[in-house]
Amino acid sequence: MSDPIAVPLLDLKPQYLALKPELDAAVADVIASQYFILGPTVEKFETACAEYCNTAHAIGVSSGTDALIVAMMAMGIGEGDEVITSPYTFFGTVGSIVRLGATPVFVDIEPGTFNIDVAKIAAVITNKTRAIAPVHLFGQMADMRAINRLAREHDLLVIEDAAQAIGAKQHGHPACSFGHMGCLSFFPTKNLGGFGDGGMVACDDAEYADIIRQLRNHGMEPKYFHSRIGGNFRLDALQAAVLDVKLKHLNSWHEQRRENAALYHQLSEKAGISRNVDLLDSGDLQNGIILPTEKDGNYHIYNQFVIYSDQRDALIDHLRANNVGCEIYYPLALHEQECFRLLGYKQGDFPNSERAAAMSLALPIFPDLAPEQIARVVEVITDFFA
Ligand SMILES: Cc1ncc(COP(=O)(O)O)c(C=O)c1O
Repeated sequence: MSDPIAVPLLDLKPQYLALKPELDAAVADVIASQYFILGPTVEKFETACAEYCNTAHAIGVSSGTDALIVAMMAMGIGEGDEVITSPYTFFGTVGSIVRLGATPVFVDIEPGTFNIDVAKIAAVITNKTRAIAPVHLFGQMADMRAINRLAREHDLLVIEDAAQAIGAKQHGHPACSFGHMGCLSFFPTKNLGGFGDGGMVACDDAEYADIIRQLRNHGMEPKYFHSRIGGNFRLDALQAAVLDVKLKHLNSWHEQRRENAALYHQLSEKAGISRNVDLLDSGDLQNGIILPTEKDGNYHIYNQFVIYSDQRDALIDHLRANNVGCEIYYPLALHEQECFRLLGYKQGDFPNSERAAAMSLALPIFPDLAPEQIARVVEVITDFFA
């Protein structure tokens, strides 16, 4: 009998090998030019990225976190301001708000999408609220129509944290094209990942775009004259060159991830382990798992494929013992993090987020997964429950 198939959570090598000649040439061109910081290669990628996100402008920055920071700096968000977001997200969303001196105000997530529950936003809007920062978690967009409606009614700014969602769509429109600004991350594990850190702010407003271009470079304009206090938030040309090559393949990678997700659903149903999200409230998933689903009108790009299990930790041990990679995103909701105690939240405040932190795990979903590998993951999970 052949060895059981190992399934890593993520393997970027096949993607690199498939594009090696193009990627190596793009990197070599930058090295030959010796033009490493901003410049024509970055501008070319910014133009392509703006077009992809259907925004008038895109400004390359040093990371997704820095994209959030400069976006909110450009909006003048700071002390005394409240920014509404969810506590079930990567740290950077909320860390950025706090680093600017503003106060994050949390709203729980919906269990099915892991995204902010828009029905609960209105209740936390105060006269200090400046912005809503929805996170399109795991590659599926939050309900932007409802969020924009609330924002218009209450005169609020909207910053989309699209770090995990470049190319995700809602009713045909891409992430970053709904809010006043959209923030992207090119961390290597993202659907569009660089050879290091990188990020982008996409927006329609020319004035915001100009301010962000200044802020990412110490607020300098013209050279060595500073009307604002910015920082070094620049995207470098090597990253832009790599990302520009990869962007041309991004839609096909999204499609492969979506096919992988569909195969997980098909095989899990066949194995009898797929459960409806409504069972979550009972706390008993009856020896099954809840697989992620796509809400009507959404185009999910599956940056992560996150399931629920009522025996999560034992299931993880079993997956790892069988050479199947998996990971918890995220094991502790942000309102319970030590560094955010000052915000005054407590355990029990956001039950859906807390339950997601306790019961969810991400399975391999990257584009180059073979169907046999997905079948193997489902087989290992089915064995666990048998
Ligand atoms: C939802 C979310 N926001 C923000 C970030 C920050 O991006 P970066 O790691 O590029 O700073 C990430 C990346 O991990 C993310 O997933």
